[in-house]
Amino acid sequence: MSALRFDPGHALDQRSDVTLRPMREADLEEVMAIELRAYPFPWTRGIFRDCLAAGYPAWLLLERGLPIGYGVLSMAVDEAHILNVCVAPERQGRGLGRYLLRALVRGARERRAERVFLEVRPSNPHAIALYHSEGFNEIGRRPRYYPAHGGREDAIVMAIELLD
Ligand SMILES: CC(C)(COP(=O)(O)OP(=O)(O)OC[C@H]1O[C@@H](n2cnc3c(N)ncnc32)[C@H](O)[C@@H]1OP(=O)(O)O)[C@@H](O)C(=O)NCCC(=O)NCCS
Repeated sequence: MSALRFDPGHALDQRSDVTLRPMREADLEEVMAIELRAYPFPWTRGIFRDCLAAGYPAWLLLERGLPIGYGVLSMAVDEAHILNVCVAPERQGRGLGRYLLRALVRGARERRAERVFLEVRPSNPHAIALYHSEGFNEIGRRPRYYPAHGGREDAIVMAIELLD
């Protein structure tokens, strides 16, 4: 009875206390506070600033007005790349990552992307499970792509085709 399955992404669409708005440079203090807690190898503030300066679509996820996550896309002709998708550690596991991912894919679709790419660490099974469940498929690997404790870690490259 899949129609009865709880769908957190859909349920969140109904929640008025969770909102998305474009990220601004003034948000970077709070974004960095989340980034530093969420990743063992976080982005720097300069990377976020460069993304905003380059005009990359970026959104802040708010719960009751407080920043609790964000997502960053880059666009190139008909392809989009998810550069960052992140939910504050204490807010994870409640459907917010799925909500954010769907918003990023929707943003890519609205900008006429035909496919969306992302990279993920093999050591990040929760993110991989989320991407698979939203229709992303592994299309390749980038050897030694990420810094890692004691060396480098490959990236799994995933993609989804956006069909009409
Ligand atoms: C990856 C991330 C965005 C997921 O956000 P989230 O809010 O925790 O995810 P959700 O609650 O929406 O869960 C979505 C799916 O992720 C997987 N998942 C999330 N937490 C999980 C857990 N504790 N155990 C197993 N699977 C989990 C499940 O497949 C889940 O779907 P389900 O609830 O239907 O089983 C979040 O963990 C995060 O920000 N991590 C740190 C940053 C990061 O690694 N980003 C991805 C970089 S590629």
